[in-house]
Amino acid sequence: MRRNDQKQRDLFESERNFKLLVEGVVDYALYMLDPSGVVTSWNSGGQRIKGYAATEIIGRHFSCFYTEADRANGKPLRALAIAREQGRYEEDGWRVRKDGTFFWASVIIDPIYEDGKLVGFAKITRDITERYEAQLRLQQMHDQLAESQRLDALGQLTGGVAHDFNNLLMIISGSLHTLRNVAGDAPKAARAVSAIDAAIRRGAALTGQLLTFARRQRVSPQAVNVTEQIEAMREVLDTGVGGAITLQFDIDPKLWLTIVDVAELKTALVNLVMNARDAMPGGGSITVAARNELLHEHALAGEFVSISVEDTGVGIAPDVLGKIFEPFFTTKPIGKGTGLGLSQVHGFAHQAGGTVRVRSDLGKGTRITILLPRNQQATPQAEETQAVGTIASGIVLLVEDNPDVAVASTCLLEQLGYTVRWVDSAEAALKEIERNEIDLVFSDIVMPGKMDGLGLARHLKTIRPGLPILLVSGYSDAAINAHGDFPILRKPYEIHQLSQAIANLSR
Ligand SMILES: Nc1ncnc2c1ncn2[C@@H]1O[C@H](COP(=O)(O)OP(=O)(O)OP(=O)(O)O)[C@@H](O)[C@H]1O
Ligand SMILES: [Mg+2]
Repeated sequence: MRRNDQKQRDLFESERNFKLLVEGVVDYALYMLDPSGVVTSWNSGGQRIKGYAATEIIGRHFSCFYTEADRANGKPLRALAIAREQGRYEEDGWRVRKDGTFFWASVIIDPIYEDGKLVGFAKITRDITERYEAQLRLQQMHDQLAESQRLDALGQLTGGVAHDFNNLLMIISGSLHTLRNVAGDAPKAARAVSAIDAAIRRGAALTGQLLTFARRQRVSPQAVNVTEQIEAMREVLDTGVGGAITLQFDIDPKLWLTIVDVAELKTALVNLVMNARDAMPGGGSITVAARNELLHEHALAGEFVSISVEDTGVGIAPDVLGKIFEPFFTTKPIGKGTGLGLSQVHGFAHQAGGTVRVRSDLGKGTRITILLPRNQQATPQAEETQAVGTIASGIVLLVEDNPDVAVASTCLLEQLGYTVRWVDSAEAALKEIERNEIDLVFSDIVMPGKMDGLGLARHLKTIRPGLPILLVSGYSDAAINAHGDFPILRKPYEIHQLSQAIANLSR
């Protein structure tokens, strides 16, 4: 009898401990259901995670934890059936708290048998919303990284091709100038020359877009007031969109300054507005907006100037959306689009330390937003003005590793009245400067050998501080580093641009 008492007491004690344990667990909702799904016990974890007190929930059917859609689909009872048939039910999914908010839950349901008879279910629910969100964020970051790596690889490829192409254009345009002088005024020749000239310009514009995409465009970043730049472009854009489309501007007059290349900014804006126009063959409206924005995102945080172009056009299909920044991706008919507009926009924004965002609703319209980081220090600089004085004549040391380009450049320099000495490397240039009188160094930036054009320029600045140096480049990451230190002429250039660049050296 006494032993029985003891046993009873032990059992009671262990049950009490177990109850305390279950009730005390706050990270898990641990509770029981009867065979039909009605809640029969509750713990503090359940209260914490789902918001119900024991008195509120015991006696109610557990389907109230499910979303309306899940309830309508019969998911709660299906879960119990699976637990019964398979011995366990496990799932991660959305559940609903008492206050109606959702959380991402990890759920386990185990059937409980007594003497072979189902007496109910044990249910364990954990709130893993944070983990779920972290996973989502991670996935998004993975996707973004993969996307930017893909575009980077494409950039490498197109950048290389465009660089070679630029050199070809340089040779054609240099030689064309010579031909023009030789051909004189014969009308046929003049027509041919101007046709070639137009083709060179078009080729230069295309390679320019490609180089921007590859972020290898030689840029002249300066502190820019976007408000002023957009104002200055109103007329051009208005003419560009034509009569059937209304073009509106919504520009914050107090925009922060941002450091960009003005020419690239203008090209990007034209590209976006032309795309918007093309998306509205039946007419519609385009809104160009610009405002200051404070971003707190994981990938992008800080102060930005946002410039967006929004249209009421056809929109972009989801399967196309992932490709629009790729060079040569176009959905336009042959001759209509080259597929380089958004590539330029992408490269421009990223080179400036910003990014591009797209929002598009099929059939409703598209908004593309360029985000450019705010420039904290500088004040806006005036745009390049006409040259005042020139270095009229003298000896130019041409440093260029490509012989064909060297011939074309020599031609142009001679036409400007200079005597040209040509060397094919920075090392040879240094020797030449030791030996001979040189008035101006004109050097390509990208060159094989230990020292490139920029290295040469920096070296010369220390040993021959007064010697004017003009660098020339189709692209170069080095050129980007050089901005501010040395003037850089963009390839391909025409004779008046060369003349202007040399003139600017003496200012
Ligand atoms: N505002 C827009 N609305 C709908 N589709 C757009 C819009 N902007 C771009 N797209 C889509 O993205 C593609 C790529 O645009 P992108 O500007 O790079 O090249 P393109 O306009 O086709 O040619 P290019 O600009 O070189 O003349 C377009 O062909 C079009 O399918
Ligand atoms: Mg375009």
